[in-house]
Amino acid sequence: MEPQQKLQADIALIGLAVMGQNLILNMNDHGFTVVAYNRTASKVDDFLNNEAKGTKIIGAHSVEEMVSKLKRPRRVMMLVKAGQAVDEFIEQLIPHLEPGDIIIDGGNSLFEDTNRRVKYCESKGLLYVGTGVSGGEEGARRGPSIMPGGSSEAWPYVKEIFQAVSAKVDGNVPCCDWVGEGGAGHYVKMIHNGIEYGDMQLICEAYNIMKNGLGMSADEMHDVFGEWNTGELDSYLIEITRDILAKKDDDGLPLIDKILDTAGQKGTGKWTVINSQDLGIPITLMAEAVYSRCVSALKDERVKASKKLKGPRPTLSTIANNPEKKKQFINDIRDALYASKIVSYAQGYMLMRAAAKEYGWNLNYGGIALMWRGGCIIRSRFLGKIKDAYDNNPKLSNLLLDDYFRAEIKRSQKGWRNIVATSAKKGIPVPAFATALSFFDQYRSAVLPANLLQAQRDYFGAHTYERTDKPRGEFFHTNWTGHGGSTSSSTYNV
Ligand code: 6PG
Repeated sequence: MEPQQKLQADIALIGLAVMGQNLILNMNDHGFTVVAYNRTASKVDDFLNNEAKGTKIIGAHSVEEMVSKLKRPRRVMMLVKAGQAVDEFIEQLIPHLEPGDIIIDGGNSLFEDTNRRVKYCESKGLLYVGTGVSGGEEGARRGPSIMPGGSSEAWPYVKEIFQAVSAKVDGNVPCCDWVGEGGAGHYVKMIHNGIEYGDMQLICEAYNIMKNGLGMSADEMHDVFGEWNTGELDSYLIEITRDILAKKDDDGLPLIDKILDTAGQKGTGKWTVINSQDLGIPITLMAEAVYSRCVSALKDERVKASKKLKGPRPTLSTIANNPEKKKQFINDIRDALYASKIVSYAQGYMLMRAAAKEYGWNLNYGGIALMWRGGCIIRSRFLGKIKDAYDNNPKLSNLLLDDYFRAEIKRSQKGWRNIVATSAKKGIPVPAFATALSFFDQYRSAVLPANLLQAQRDYFGAHTYERTDKPRGEFFHTNWTGHGGSTSSSTYNV
């Protein structure tokens, strides 16, 4: 055993990109001793000589050296690119660790990879934690939202550090709690990101109507977002939108007008949508948000198409020129954003419920809302209301059925419909507003036209159908043409 003075550090962190550095500094601020390691060793020295100067942070130039400085059970956290790098570091760590030591992945890993890694590390006697960390650079430094899952025996050993460095809400409640087994932490982070995509798309649609419909300037929109941020939409993403709109380029003109309209994406939104397809849950708004980024990326095609495909002019001059009407219309845009946002979160929670069932997780929905209430990118006042909804009824089957949200949608519905209808008439694309409204109308329909769809399937493929006048589970086939056979195909669902 090493002399005690060498076993000084509480945790090691691999990966000194900005998130890693900031999380280390945050841990140091909270009194933990951190060993910093990076594959390119010169980064370690740079960090120690600059950002980490004058702190208790220790540098390591090899995995072996890093591990040798840790108290037991050893805690090693990785903040490296999701994918192969995580597997490579696990392999490098294993020979230097002992049973009961803990490997933590704080990157945006795919939850299925985390499921696999938990099993693998446990088979080696180690514990494994896959944790979502949200809040960008600033969050990592000042307090992120942290969503850990994996080997539950590891939780007591990481709880103190994680909760200390995480964001706090309502006094001193940490935005960090144990999510569940296997990849549950990364799953919840994935849903966070899907919702993040949706929130961002909704804000972009509101901006687009104000800009191209009402012809509003960046400064005017800055004021509107500033006002929205004092009400029910109060959130980090509305706040940064307000600030983005005020930012001027070197020539004094709004910087926003010079940014190319093609969105990037790293894949977490896509993963959420793929998973929703696997589980058969309609997260239509997040799907539209992902596809809108894809459409935005087709810049050259869109420029060509804009010259050939004609539609109505988007300008809403009658409204824009009448201050009263304009004020009302802007309130309608706010209502459309708000109601759509309620639908998006309801869909996100539907997916989490389905995942909990499918993967055997016992998710605490109110607790998840609380974790997202501060520190993360989707943090908002609104999440406090979601927490209240699940506190009132932990078994709530759908957020749309909660009394508060039901009343909010009722109040916002007129404006929401007006915005979707006006945008359709004026050729202003509002995919997220519109899909949210269509979902809302579908979800509140006791009867949908799927009777016809079933008839079509039975007509061309003998896929059978159930009848309204017979018990569920009995399947019928009709010989629609008179020359089809009476043999039906088997019933199964993918
Ligand atoms: C967070 C963010 C973060 C994400 C970026 C980029 O919670 O801090 O979700 O994890 O990586 O927002 O995502 P895209 O590049 O896919 O937009």
